[in-house]
Amino acid sequence: MSPDSTSPPRAPSKVLVTGGAGMLGSQVLLCAPDGVTAIGTDNRAATGVDRPGVDLAEPADVARLFAEEGPFSGVIHTAAYTAVDKAEAEEALALRANGTACGVLAEACARAAVPLVLVSTDFVFDGTGSRPYRPDDPPNPLSAYGRTKLAGEQAALAVHADGTRIVRTQWLYGPRGRHFPGTMRRLARSRAKLVVVADQTGSPTSTLELAPALWDVLVEGREGIYHAACEGACTWYDLAVATLSYSGIEDVTVEPCTTAEYPSAAPRPEYSVLDCSRLTELRGAPLAPWEDALKTYLGSEAQ
Ligand SMILES: NC(=O)c1ccc[n+]([C@@H]2O[C@H](COP(=O)([O-])OP(=O)(O)OC[C@H]3O[C@@H](n4cnc5c(N)ncnc54)[C@H](OP(=O)(O)O)[C@@H]3O)[C@@H](O)[C@H]2O)c1
Repeated sequence: MSPDSTSPPRAPSKVLVTGGAGMLGSQVLLCAPDGVTAIGTDNRAATGVDRPGVDLAEPADVARLFAEEGPFSGVIHTAAYTAVDKAEAEEALALRANGTACGVLAEACARAAVPLVLVSTDFVFDGTGSRPYRPDDPPNPLSAYGRTKLAGEQAALAVHADGTRIVRTQWLYGPRGRHFPGTMRRLARSRAKLVVVADQTGSPTSTLELAPALWDVLVEGREGIYHAACEGACTWYDLAVATLSYSGIEDVTVEPCTTAEYPSAAPRPEYSVLDCSRLTELRGAPLAPWEDALKTYLGSEAQ
């Protein structure tokens, strides 16, 4: 029987969380539902999670992981090659992590007849839209990173269509890892003025909001694509202004600039707001508005 045809959904008992040392994966591990044992993989040994040294693109590694640590009742796959600009020069490497690994994990999940929640990105879209992107809008990635993430979605769907739940998200920040609000706060310590791109629009999303939603998609969701981002939208400039304001930093000015004035190796979508209504329907409520989630995160950092 396929994992999505059971009703009511089975409560997962032991779940594999890949990328356990990453910004999102570490938060997913922290908010596992009661009664669930979450096993994290970490390809950077010695950060305190369970399985260092697993190459998820290597079928033998994944088979051994399932045999030694399983049986798993589901997988939440957050691990990825996430260096967006570097990926332009390292597309083959990024494809191995973001594309091949998804196919390998999906095959293992299909063999075990368990669901796979696969985290993907707004970068699968070209950003030329003028309304929030729906899950079935045609993808057209602009960057190598976006292409490799789309390849991962396709690889998983090809081998485990009825068990793969893709969750596309964007503009992440959270308690662990490097991210935009953290960079703004760090730069504000040494500069009187920050210049920030004001012609890209998206939805800043806290891992504190997203991580529990991934568990809900695993436990209650169905196959196919979900979009998951905090409510509302803004530019990077707006996010910088809000970050400094909510942090009580008043002596640093923020000036807007264009993408053309601040070029990067990888092109970014100009408008990549996601239509998250399928997730809202599943959970009965949207993720928090981005301003509220940012205040909560910054408040927790101040503790
Ligand atoms: N950050 C964002 O704004 C954003 C936006 C949209 C979607 N996403 C997606 O959200 C997910 C989580 O992103 P994140 O920002 O939390 O990423 P992150 O902090 O860079 O964490 C990714 C983790 O995956 C591990 N990893 C990379 N390649 C691996 C491999 N081949 N095998 C095993 N582990 C591997 C990394 O370990 P090492 O560091 O040791 O390599 C790292 O611990 C990713 O799927 C990403 O594509 C992120």
